Amino acid sequence: MDRIQRIGDVAEIMLDYVENKKTYQADNTMRVPTRSYTDHDQWRAEMELIFKRVPLMLAFTAEMPNPGDYKAMEAVGLPILISRDKEGKVRAFLNVCSHRSAPVASEGHGNCPRFVCKYHGWTFGQDGRLIGVAESRTFGDVDKAGLGLRRLPCEEKAGMIFVCLTPNAPMDLDRYFRGFLDDYDAMDFGKWTYLGSRVIEGANWKIAFDGYLEGYHFASLHPETIFPRTPSNCTHYEGFGPNIRIGFPQKRIAEALRDVPREQWGTQENNGFDFVRIMFPNVSTFIAPEITQVAQLFPGPTPEQNRTVLNYLRRDPIRDEEDRAQVETMIDFFRDVTYKEDYLIGLEIQRGLEAGAHDELVFGRNERGNQYFHEWLNWYLEDDPTRPEPKM
Ligand code: FES
Repeated sequence: MDRIQRIGDVAEIMLDYVENKKTYQADNTMRVPTRSYTDHDQWRAEMELIFKRVPLMLAFTAEMPNPGDYKAMEAVGLPILISRDKEGKVRAFLNVCSHRSAPVASEGHGNCPRFVCKYHGWTFGQDGRLIGVAESRTFGDVDKAGLGLRRLPCEEKAGMIFVCLTPNAPMDLDRYFRGFLDDYDAMDFGKWTYLGSRVIEGANWKIAFDGYLEGYHFASLHPETIFPRTPSNCTHYEGFGPNIRIGFPQKRIAEALRDVPREQWGTQENNGFDFVRIMFPNVSTFIAPEITQVAQLFPGPTPEQNRTVLNYLRRDPIRDEEDRAQVETMIDFFRDVTYKEDYLIGLEIQRGLEAGAHDELVFGRNERGNQYFHEWLNWYLEDDPTRPEPKM
């Protein structure tokens, strides 16, 4: 189905939800063992069978748009280097020198024609090839061709850079996203401006991620920030493989769409309804007219901790210093709401789960996004691709 038509149909469903106090409902409630959030073996399995196998969204085109740009970062405990060569092609590597394993680039962003390891000065090209061995006359013979940086599968698509953390693993973005990235393409996401990021830390990565997957908590947890715009417990879900588009109607949806022809409702995101887009397993995008927040949740270093990078982008470039100051204020506001209203309760939930009060927790029929996420999580942990996939 045409994308605009499909979003228009979702808008119509959400209008009905608001007018008749309804929400998307699963057939049943779902129970999840509390140890899923505390158990070290499960956590290790999640790292090996999910985070090291699926395509992870690790960077934005807008974050490193120019030839020679790079980003060095940590993901799931691994040092990663993403590099754009002079032809514009993006590659990813383990940020580990082939001499004695020091990093070849310091964490953060930069631009350089080659990478120079700070330990002994070996140099590597933007394509990861070993170019120079320092003091090679005394070092002895080495096969330079076999001593490049270790490549990781990497592909740039729809304004984002996806990496698989296992060398030589297959990566098929079309099969994994099943049309989910079309929205980003339609919005020309690759041409947006990267505004900056903030880092927050919280509880087990799934406790934090569960919070992005439902609107059941808006009235109680966000009475002054989200709830004035968006009704509580009024949510629509669509699955694209393991990924989810979550629709949140605004309280004013009827008024917003009243004078818009029905065939144009699919073009009205942010006017009457909003979407949160979830990339399995760890990315949540909330597009608002003024600013977009993309949360990347990274597990660890232990099961009861996560590190979340909150990235901010918008369509237009920064205009001037005053505009930059306003953007920074808005970024701090978004960060504070996310941390103080969602992540702090996550830490309390972690203590609750570890207290041994209950063997299971329960997701309601109205929390279909959480159910779907945990169904896919279990599907990957079973490690049997012949099993039927979860369906929304
Ligand atoms: Fe990189 Fe020695 S560890 S040059």
